[in-house]
Amino acid sequence: MSDVAIVVLAAGKGTRMKSELPKVLHKIGSKTMLEEVLFTANKLNPKRLVVVVGFGADKVKATLSEDVIAVTQKVQLGTGHAMMQALPALDGFEGNVMILYGDVPLLSFQTLKNLLKKHLETKAAVTVLTALVDDPTGYGRIIRDEGTFLKIVEQKDASAKEKQIKEINSGVYCFTSKALREYLPLLSPQNKQGEYYLTDVLSLAKSDGKVVETLITEDLEEILGANNRLQLAELANLRNKRKLTELMLGGVTIFDPNNTYIDNEVEIDPDTTIEPGTFIYGKCHVASNTVIGPYSTLIDTDVGSNVTIERSVIVKAIIHSGAQIGPFAHIRPETTVCEDAKVGNFVELKNSTIGKGSKASHLTYLGDTKLGENVNIGAGTITCNFDGCNKNQTEIGNNAFIGSNSSLVAPLTIGKNAFTGAGSTITKDIPENALGIGRAKQINYKDWANKKKKRKDI
Ligand code: UD1
Ligand code: MG
Repeated sequence: MSDVAIVVLAAGKGTRMKSELPKVLHKIGSKTMLEEVLFTANKLNPKRLVVVVGFGADKVKATLSEDVIAVTQKVQLGTGHAMMQALPALDGFEGNVMILYGDVPLLSFQTLKNLLKKHLETKAAVTVLTALVDDPTGYGRIIRDEGTFLKIVEQKDASAKEKQIKEINSGVYCFTSKALREYLPLLSPQNKQGEYYLTDVLSLAKSDGKVVETLITEDLEEILGANNRLQLAELANLRNKRKLTELMLGGVTIFDPNNTYIDNEVEIDPDTTIEPGTFIYGKCHVASNTVIGPYSTLIDTDVGSNVTIERSVIVKAIIHSGAQIGPFAHIRPETTVCEDAKVGNFVELKNSTIGKGSKASHLTYLGDTKLGENVNIGAGTITCNFDGCNKNQTEIGNNAFIGSNSSLVAPLTIGKNAFTGAGSTITKDIPENALGIGRAKQINYKDWANKKKKRKDI
């Protein structure tokens, strides 16, 4: 395929959102609408990716990655005017320019590919994505002459007869860079809204003898935009449903699709089960035969095969195969749980490695800790990793046994096969094979209860 540049129009305020936040920054799931559009746009490997910002420009720019060129449209004088602002950012680019809206987030890569394919095959100057809808109110109508594209008429400029037309302009186009450069400067705001209409580029090209093509999309959901929060929720729902459908058809069991939320960029291998109340966001990969949920949240986490994760929250971590997590574990960033390890209820981990086959089964906090293999962490163990200024490391060797309710005051090294006595406060390193006990000696006062009773009787 030929070189493609993509321009995303995102300058509008979105008055009906009733928000200080620019419309394109509203989220559908864990991602903003603009992020979703850019995620799909990037799949086309565009030579340039331009976003036209306007309302809340600084806020929108702050969300863009370095490879995106932001251009500012100071006043919103229409879609044609927005594209005029983008032209300088396309200087020196020869090829095809795809135009998308920042508030139309469900458009699929496949549809964009189909549009580009038709555009190239027909050698068109412009190809527009259209759709046949039951209620065309508000959209630009596609006017044809015996089936051939003629022009687009906006709702506000349409005659009563034109308003009957059910074929609408989705607002997604593919232009040759040449056609944009030639016809955008010729636009005038002589219409009911006093705007520069991008749609007029199509009629200008057509009347100049250029090929203008249409591609009718069957998928009406893809071209939906959000104007208010109700529509935002609908889009969020549709996006999620589409992702879950793709996963289920790919061999993932999802018990309750109405109660499971998974980002588009998440990859899940077949024969994995996702139970209700589960959220999987960001760059996650889940390998096969793993069960996640119920009620778990995973963000930017890599999960191996044959893992179980129950009612737990895991952020930026790696969970290797055979591990058991939860219920009620909280695994924080930079943590690795190795093969067949167990992280049980009310265990919090941060920046730690839990070695192969090691267990922290109950009520534990391990921060900045490196556990070897087959270490047993008794219930109630905590690493005291923060001294008020610095975070200190704890290292525990293979097969060590940490007695229940041990406080491990870091920095600390506990050798392999070493033990700590239950209830110890360990402040000094323990060598290999040694037992470390750090607790007050118990004293038993003989017959103390009877003596106490007697005192009361007096
Ligand atoms: C436009 C089309 C219409 C089509 C509809 C599909 C024109 C003239 N009309 O309608 O035929 O059916 O989209 O949704 O193009 N924007 C800017 N700067 C502006 C104006 C708009 O960046 O000055 C952006 C908006 O943020 C939005 C997109 O362009 O993302 C479309 O604008 P909107 O006002 O929603 O579309 P219409 O002009 O009503
Ligand atoms: Mg408008």
